[in-house]
Amino acid sequence: MKKSIKNICCIGAGYVGGPTMAVIADKCPHIEVNVVDINKDRILAWNSPNTEEIPIFEPGLSEIVKRRRGVNLFFSTEVKEQIAKADMIFISVNTPTKKRGVGAGKASDLKWVESSARQIAKYSKGYTIVVEKSTLPVKTAEVIKSILEASQSTSHNEKGTKFSVLSNPEFLAEGTAIDDLLNPDRVLIGGENKEDIELLSEIYYEWVPKNKIIKTNVWSSELAKLTANAFLAQRISSINSIAALCEATGADVREVSRAIGSDSRIGSKFLDCGPGFGGSCFKKDILNLVYLSEYLGLKEVANFWESVVTLNKWHQHRISKLITKKLFGTLSEKKISILGFAFKENTNDTRESSAIQICKDLLEEGAELFIHDPKVNPEQISSDLNLLPNNIKSKANNQNSKIKEGTWNSANSVESALINSDAVLILTEWSEYSTINWKKVSKLMRKPAWVFDARSIIDPKEVLKSGLNLWRVGDGVI
Ligand code: UDX
Ligand code: ADP
Repeated sequence: MKKSIKNICCIGAGYVGGPTMAVIADKCPHIEVNVVDINKDRILAWNSPNTEEIPIFEPGLSEIVKRRRGVNLFFSTEVKEQIAKADMIFISVNTPTKKRGVGAGKASDLKWVESSARQIAKYSKGYTIVVEKSTLPVKTAEVIKSILEASQSTSHNEKGTKFSVLSNPEFLAEGTAIDDLLNPDRVLIGGENKEDIELLSEIYYEWVPKNKIIKTNVWSSELAKLTANAFLAQRISSINSIAALCEATGADVREVSRAIGSDSRIGSKFLDCGPGFGGSCFKKDILNLVYLSEYLGLKEVANFWESVVTLNKWHQHRISKLITKKLFGTLSEKKISILGFAFKENTNDTRESSAIQICKDLLEEGAELFIHDPKVNPEQISSDLNLLPNNIKSKANNQNSKIKEGTWNSANSVESALINSDAVLILTEWSEYSTINWKKVSKLMRKPAWVFDARSIIDPKEVLKSGLNLWRVGDGVI
């Protein structure tokens, strides 16, 4: 066993690895933290002289990187060298849903985890503690362990390497990652070896109160992470299902949320209706649970959790259908301004954003979309929609574009998105959208014009006073 941790290597410089390691380096100046990645461009961006240009936008992150980078926090592509130096190695690589083969569409693709484990087996020296940080399917620790153990039993293991595997799932949410890391509700550590659990705990003791560190066995830790995300997503599908009922009955979902959220057993968080949940974790983690339950013959359990994802998709389609209906059943030659493309505010991440499905539906109906988002760049939107923006498309002389019903353009301001539009649809709760002067912008729109607020961030009275029609998710009163 090890006596103390002096050198950490984190494989994967993404949304999880980057911020987590920055906070560890900041709180543990006695530890050298090396974040490695096979993606050269990403590492270059992490090392960019202007810390505002690091690849991940998280409030507070660039300041920490500025403080620690080059001191005890390093970003490089030296996977082999840094693995060899490390006392403790975090695996923070991507684990997307499998696209083909057994478990396609549900199980996680463990290709990157497996290759990390093989690199660790090959290059590490001495006693190494391997920590699963990425959200992984239950029993992944076993996969990692068997790859590491196989290397120990081969004749190549002259260096006397020994491994221990811990699960330490990350609960940070994007946009609040640094605050979540600095003030976690809990830190979860799963493992068999008590001394190694203690060594990892000691890192967190530097800033997390001891009573917030929960120690479990490996499988409880892996399952708890999936379950936490499934429960959170379930609350959103629950409230979005009630939003549809509210619209049909004359109730207001915000009032219902307030009424049920004040029951301390239910609690008020994660009860905001919206365009449906997005983000890289919720859908993926629920589908993992579904896959696991099916694999174990627990069909009813699988169906229960799958319905959370089904409801989410239904809700997204419901919004796009409703827009078409309100705009007289056709979107052909209609201009719709989309405000917000990120899956939530304060992030440039669009993974699984509801905006993708809803915009695709509207394009299918022939709409001309003008999309604005303060943080998401047009290239990302183009890749998500699998469609070049109209202006680039005309330049490319239609050579590379897929011919689709509708078209889209990138708008660099809210006002330019709204000129001559028939409707505006708010999909991300960016604060700048809550202060739109409706009286002023109403004059820019083609009448009769609609405002569709899927995030409940605008003042309904102001919109109605400006002569615009209004729909708010879950509002059966207007
Ligand atoms: C989530 C978990 O919160 C985090 O603990 C885990 O580690 C990773 O997954 P994240 O995906 O960053 O974090 O976003 P989160 O803030 O949970 O929001 C997920 C989605 O739900 C967003 O699309 C958000 O807009 C939506 N949401 C959230 C609602 O629609 N209503 C709510 O009340 C809360
Ligand atoms: P997450 O949201 O889980 O952090 P990301 O996709 O943002 O996921 O980041 C994962 C990172 O892991 C990517 O930058 C990817 O290049 C990196 N990665 C994947 N496999 C390896 C590997 N074997 N060695 C080093 N880096 C890897």
